[in-house]
Amino acid sequence: MNSPNVIPPTASSYLNKTYWDERFANEEHYEWFKDYSHFRHLILQHINPTSSVLELGCGNSQLCENLYGDGITQLTCIDLSPVAVENMRNRLMSKGYHEIKVEEADMLDLPFGNGSFDVVIEKGTMDVLFVDSGDPWNPEPTTVNKVMKMLQEVHRVLKPRGIFISITFGQPHFRRPLLHAPEFNWSMECRTFGDAFHYFFYILKKGERLPVSESSIDIVHIPPPISLIHEELDDEDYIFRTNLDEE
Ligand SMILES: C[S@@+](CC[C@H](N)C(=O)[O-])C[C@H]1O[C@@H](n2cnc3c(N)ncnc32)[C@H](O)[C@@H]1O
Repeated sequence: MNSPNVIPPTASSYLNKTYWDERFANEEHYEWFKDYSHFRHLILQHINPTSSVLELGCGNSQLCENLYGDGITQLTCIDLSPVAVENMRNRLMSKGYHEIKVEEADMLDLPFGNGSFDVVIEKGTMDVLFVDSGDPWNPEPTTVNKVMKMLQEVHRVLKPRGIFISITFGQPHFRRPLLHAPEFNWSMECRTFGDAFHYFFYILKKGERLPVSESSIDIVHIPPPISLIHEELDDEDYIFRTNLDEE
């Protein structure tokens, strides 16, 4: 479904709204990382048909349709790109998924009230904020500020016992300092999925943070260094990952 001309010259192009608009004007469907079938078993442990769900940066992914197919109908998708939003609305209407709301919005400034959702989910969207982060062990302050703003917004729009699910390339040693910053009262768990290369599935449960002395992260697998596995990644996953997790 992808075509070579959507791959940008540098990873920092992924921060550019115009890049996404131009890409979505020509691309019908592209699924970042893996499709729903690979992590469905993990998602369904945390979302049920009564959950209200917000998806950040839906792009032209089929995630919301897949969730709908599993009976989760209270879905809202947002994306920064008006082209993505228009295309997604048209696609969902043509398939009869009238209940799914799609809105143009910035995940750093969400247009929803406090405590609006049971679940917020993102796949590859937070990773966009890291593409010009510099040293992953010591990311640029501009990157940290944007990621913290996004996480503050997610924390704010979640209900008191809400859950944030983040599906990413980002390994726990790089993500934990931000995802589990002291200002958030959510607990943090990490699962992995995938075949040769493992993607990370973070589960942050609001209101369940343990005192520092009792907290730990439950991580199932640690993947090999990128140099051993990059040939197994899609070309675009590889460029997107550049600057994210180099050690
Ligand atoms: C790497 S793609 C992931 C798309 C989709 N989640 C998937 O799994 O295939 C990143 C998406 O995030 C959107 N995006 C980038 N920055 C955003 C922001 N600040 N707020 C909302 N969406 C954003 C882009 O337009 C793009 O659709």
